Amino acid sequence: MALEERPVGKLDRAVIFLGPPGSGKGTQAKELARYYAVPHLSTGDMLREHVASATPLGCKAKPIMERGELVPDSLVLKMVAERIDRPDCFHGFVFDGFPRTVAQAKYLAELLKRQGFRQPFVIHMVIPTSVLMKRLTGRRSCKIGGEIYNIYERPPKLDGVCDNDGGELIQRPDDREEVVAPRLNAYEKQTAPLVQFYRRFGALHDVNANRKVEDVQREIFELVSGMRGR
Ligand code: AP5
Repeated sequence: MALEERPVGKLDRAVIFLGPPGSGKGTQAKELARYYAVPHLSTGDMLREHVASATPLGCKAKPIMERGELVPDSLVLKMVAERIDRPDCFHGFVFDGFPRTVAQAKYLAELLKRQGFRQPFVIHMVIPTSVLMKRLTGRRSCKIGGEIYNIYERPPKLDGVCDNDGGELIQRPDDREEVVAPRLNAYEKQTAPLVQFYRRFGALHDVNANRKVEDVQREIFELVSGMRGR
């Protein structure tokens, strides 16, 4: 499906990207949101903005994120509830990195019900752990537009410079090798149980994320465009 084409239908629900760090959630979620013209809601990006602005939330989250642990639900849930209450979310949105605990998923179910949305559509990015270290340590993001690259797999045309807007490409502090292991551990312990949580409701769709970006994207677009009524 060409990205230039407009979608036939509206999204009208929440799409959730679930998968370990480095599985490609951000890369794919951004494209899907752009295509349906709905917000891409990355709780990681929101928290990093709080950290950069040194808000009270950012000051609490910073050391936790630097250790590769999850920020407590009490801090994340309020931030998410406020965001999806904004008018640009009325026709659906794409979550990237939320929910991440069963408590977050239960809270989200209540929020969606209250706002008249049906059950979310969950894309589960399936990938062997062995490829994640290279993806994460090789990731670079544009300081201006947030475009994601990988120095090994998806390099920019010019070293350290974004192809789109010429912005400087930077490495996330939590992509250092020593922080990747605790992040993967947090995923296994706290987030992986969500696979069963959503599978029970028939809301989960497995996607093999260990393929070329374009192939993964094609499958996700096909799944989402066929989701209506499910
Ligand atoms: P967050 O920002 O959400 O990070 P994450 O879940 O660890 O996921 P990543 O952003 O690292 O990876 P991704 O799956 O998006 O992969 P990407 O597309 O970038 O969270 C950061 C921290 O914030 C957490 O540790 C926690 O502390 C806190 N936090 C956030 N949300 C929270 C919540 N809800 N509750 C509590 N705490 C929360 O791709 C990775 C690399 O691979 C890139 O270089 C990309 O170019 C490359 N790549 C992507 N796809 C492919 C492909 N198909 N082939 C080859 N390379 C590829």
